[in-house]
Amino acid sequence: MSDVSDEHTAPIDEEALAEAYNRALALEKSGDFDAAAIAYAEVLRLDPADHGGAAVRLASMGRGETPPKAPDAYVTTLFDQHAGDFESILVDQLGYDVPLLVREALLVHAPGPYGRMLDLGCGTGLSGETLRDMAGHITGVDLSETMLEVTDEKDVYDALYAGEAVDFLENADVEPFDLITATDVLPYLGHLEAFFAGAASCTVAGAILAFSSETLPDETMKGRAFMVGPHQRFAHAESYVRETLAAGGFACLCFEPITVRHEMGQPVPGHLVLARRQ
Ligand SMILES: C[S@@+](CC[C@H](N)C(=O)[O-])C[C@H]1O[C@@H](n2cnc3c(N)ncnc32)[C@H](O)[C@@H]1O
Repeated sequence: MSDVSDEHTAPIDEEALAEAYNRALALEKSGDFDAAAIAYAEVLRLDPADHGGAAVRLASMGRGETPPKAPDAYVTTLFDQHAGDFESILVDQLGYDVPLLVREALLVHAPGPYGRMLDLGCGTGLSGETLRDMAGHITGVDLSETMLEVTDEKDVYDALYAGEAVDFLENADVEPFDLITATDVLPYLGHLEAFFAGAASCTVAGAILAFSSETLPDETMKGRAFMVGPHQRFAHAESYVRETLAAGGFACLCFEPITVRHEMGQPVPGHLVLARRQ
């Protein structure tokens, strides 16, 4: 693993962490989830910020509580590592085209044009590139500075911020937006209340929120609002997304089933959602 210590936390014993993490992964792969859970608990003790995503791995094995979101340190580490090959993996190998689906849905339901667009979890800027002609000014926010460097080189966004999406929505001192996008970002968020409420607080009345989710039918979710799936991504119950969106002050314009991507050759189901701020 790359550098996992920072100036505000106690130094990490990198050697012990790497040993515990590799042991946990090997045990998980061998199917010995009980032993893997003990090893992941050790990983968390050595690295409480959880750069390796032990908490989501525990939850995906059905051990330990479902965390409220993917840890920021984990998201940052994961996407910093994959920024260089992100587009070839996601678009070319996994068939990802959610930004294009957002564009098509916007053209049908709310064609704009938009003055100020905010792209949360902008990654390498695929949504900004796809929607550039529909918005006058585009701001991108992402936890991964390495992903943002790729975006910056494309020269498509007018402003880029390194930071956490909900933190940005709650604290950024910026003019309100009339379009917010979050493509393939909900799989890294569990609780959605603060996300939707923050989106409402950063937008003008009538603004559009466009996002994708790996939504599952309520029967599959068995009463859970969200869960961590086998690929360490969060899936949400359809009713939870709808209710939380409404409670946040958004009216649904479109809630369309889509294939978000392919994983091991299998389509990953989800939804494309457009909602209007009341
Ligand atoms: C699968 S990528 C999608 C990128 C881009 N939206 C797209 O459609 O290509 C998810 C991105 O969301 C970012 N991300 C995940 N959770 C985040 C959070 N809580 N705050 C800010 N960015 C986040 C990751 O760093 C990553 O760049």
